[in-house]
Amino acid sequence: MKTLKEIQEQINLAIQKSPSADNCQPFSLVWDDKALTIFHDDSRARHILNVNEGASKIALGMLAETFRIVANANEFGTEIIVKNGFGKRNSESAWLQLSLNENSFQEKLFESDKELVPAIQQRHVNRESYEGGFIPLQLKSWIEEQVVFTEKAKTKIINFMDNSDSKNNLLFNRIAENEAYLFSKGDIFSDISKWIRFKRSDAETSKDGLHWSQLGIKIIDIPSIMLLKKFPNLLNFLYPKVVKKIRVSETKKLINSSSSLVSFWCPDQSPMSFIEVGALAMRIWTKLNQIGYGVQPLSAMSLHSVLMQQESENKAKLATQEEQQLFDSNLDVLRQTFDESQSSMPLWLFRTGVTKSLKPSQISLRKDIPVQYITTTKVKELGITQPELEQAASKLKNLDKPKLQ
Ligand SMILES: Cc1cc2nc3c(=O)[nH]c(=O)nc-3n(C[C@H](O)[C@H](O)[C@H](O)COP(=O)(O)O)c2cc1C
Repeated sequence: MKTLKEIQEQINLAIQKSPSADNCQPFSLVWDDKALTIFHDDSRARHILNVNEGASKIALGMLAETFRIVANANEFGTEIIVKNGFGKRNSESAWLQLSLNENSFQEKLFESDKELVPAIQQRHVNRESYEGGFIPLQLKSWIEEQVVFTEKAKTKIINFMDNSDSKNNLLFNRIAENEAYLFSKGDIFSDISKWIRFKRSDAETSKDGLHWSQLGIKIIDIPSIMLLKKFPNLLNFLYPKVVKKIRVSETKKLINSSSSLVSFWCPDQSPMSFIEVGALAMRIWTKLNQIGYGVQPLSAMSLHSVLMQQESENKAKLATQEEQQLFDSNLDVLRQTFDESQSSMPLWLFRTGVTKSLKPSQISLRKDIPVQYITTTKVKELGITQPELEQAASKLKNLDKPKLQ
């Protein structure tokens, strides 16, 4: 039997490996006995595409599921409380609280979680070409069964083998166009490229962001990407002339090499919808990697199009009227292809397929996750109130604030 401290440390290690957009690692933790409070550092997550912190909200759901998988393997259920600070853009606001609860442990429901614990450490993005394949029936059923963990989120899969109709060609073109859009504006590319590490030593020192070899790009492309990192506004001119064509064709190759698309749906943009989509995606991504399938999120077509339905400070910078129309109609293309209703939100999309393992050097690194321990019982003896406690926790956390490279 593990001690509470040992379980907390096992959870911290697993959460450290949980993914974030661009590997920006924006979360920090405060443990109070069996309760873990999660804070979000908006200075790390600030990114023109992280519209209203939407990407961080999905990443938080993935983190919450990581907590639940490890908690369950230690015979604890999990209580989730969305805090008032959820989605707020200041690092003093707590976003979520997760608690270990022995009374809500349901062994039967979570039987397969024990196998997922070691797989959490192996989960990763693979942005290379895959070797096709298809999702066999047994795996498809496992994936579909995962909705028993959620109230709002659900998943739908398209196996390309079963669906060679023209709807998918339209979908493929749209996905490729949306992936290319990431290169359409200097403002977007400069936020993406700040996380690209060109030297191995930089990736090893910062332990965040992405080394270029993880991005599925060829060594021959490095000088042009370095040039664009330095002068991102060149893209405003180069995109319509050459870059768009190249990016569309590269993405189509990647999709054609895949076996399937996995989509994640929710009814609204409430906190629990983001958390549940992240949670469901975490389970499925981890399982797919465990049995030899590569996974790459395709956020530009899905998450981004959904977030562009919201008002946001960068809306005008992000999309011309024409582009906004494209985002709106992306949702309809996804709904038609996956046979979903008008009110259903395609919050996230993955491609997957059978693939070779990545080289160890292509696996992204992690910083030590900032974590603090406090004890309410001691604080209660001193007569400190809950808001004061949270304030104290956020102050403690800021002492350890990681520096952005
Ligand atoms: C909300 C979210 C959105 C992401 N979107 C994309 C994406 O559009 N394309 C992509 O290649 N990777 C995407 N990623 C993957 C991250 O870049 C990746 O998880 C992170 O760099 C850590 O690497 P790892 O997953 O290999 O551990 C996304 C991850 C998250 C959590």
